[in-house]
Amino acid sequence: MPDYYLLHLRMKIVVVENLVKRFGPVTAVDGISFNVEENSIFGFLGPNGAGKTTTISILCTLLEPTSGKAFLNGHDCSSESSAVRKSIGIVFQDSSLDKDLTARENLMFHAQLYNVAKQERRERVGDALSFAGLQDRADDLVKKFSGGMKRRLEVARGLIHKPKVLFLDEPTLGLDPQSRSNLWEFITELPRRHNVTIFMTTHYMEEAEVCDRIAIIDKGKIIASGTPQGLKKLIGGDVIYLKSTDNGRAIATLREKFGIEASEKEDEIFMSTPRGDSSIPSIIRELGESVLSVRMQRPTLNDVFLKLTGKEIREENHSSGSDVKESVRSYRRRHDRG
Ligand SMILES: Nc1ncnc2c1ncn2[C@@H]1O[C@H](COP(=O)(O)OP(=O)(O)O)[C@@H](O)[C@H]1O
Ligand SMILES: [Mg+2]
Repeated sequence: MPDYYLLHLRMKIVVVENLVKRFGPVTAVDGISFNVEENSIFGFLGPNGAGKTTTISILCTLLEPTSGKAFLNGHDCSSESSAVRKSIGIVFQDSSLDKDLTARENLMFHAQLYNVAKQERRERVGDALSFAGLQDRADDLVKKFSGGMKRRLEVARGLIHKPKVLFLDEPTLGLDPQSRSNLWEFITELPRRHNVTIFMTTHYMEEAEVCDRIAIIDKGKIIASGTPQGLKKLIGGDVIYLKSTDNGRAIATLREKFGIEASEKEDEIFMSTPRGDSSIPSIIRELGESVLSVRMQRPTLNDVFLKLTGKEIREENHSSGSDVKESVRSYRRRHDRG
């Protein structure tokens, strides 16, 4: 059987149809529909506040949708919540490990919670520890672990009861670049080794390159979906960034002389052209001495987001991310006192 045929026969392990979630006047999820294929890595991308965690929470049966449907492994996420819960593992943004227990104790506790048979627990926990590369630290308290070790332990814990889908909500948030890339190596192994589908969110666009398929969500709506390669083709060639002494005039010239629609972001203008290397010389010739700098790059998923929304995913996330941290801090201050 040809490959494309097999692809079509793959089961849709997650099916979302016209899902809406409102919190009072806020529409967090605004009529989204998508599918996820079994044993694939699905990336749900979008800036802070886009609706990613809300969508995951509905799929994990932690929130009721306002309208629309979500199915997981064939079960309705609203009306068959216990069947859904048995089919999933969750690693949320905030760690839920018990830091005063050892790594092994955390895993044993989870196995018990999910009714893993007693005679199987020890072996599964041992496998999880070695898979997470933590067998030497199994009996150390979790509070002594680095951020990367804790995250690997949480992922391994999420797999102990052999879920069909593992949800990872911003798994690399707060990790240093080295631990981020280690964690990704570890995560990309999962579908093959554990027969599990990965549903992950991130706002680091470059991390989404490892996904089989991606959906980009912004303000509660899916604005694009496809493979990383397919999405980058939306850009239609190379991306050129250019600084000039008069960006407004440069944009007008590019439109008049080359039919290129360039946009301005901060003090730079950017545009896509089918062949950057051949268009740059003529652009520079036309704009003359007003050109201060030019750079070209192959399109990234960040460019895709920029093109679709006119904004960069990072900067938006940066400010609102620190707002979130500040509100968590003040919440804690209030509660610590009381
Ligand atoms: N429990 C809640 N009550 C009110 N508003 C909420 C609640 N949870 C999320 N929201 C709002 O819904 C929107 C989407 O939030 P969320 O799903 O957490 O986004 P993301 O995970 O993409 O950052 C935001 O505007 C957020 O403020
Ligand atoms: Mg979130």
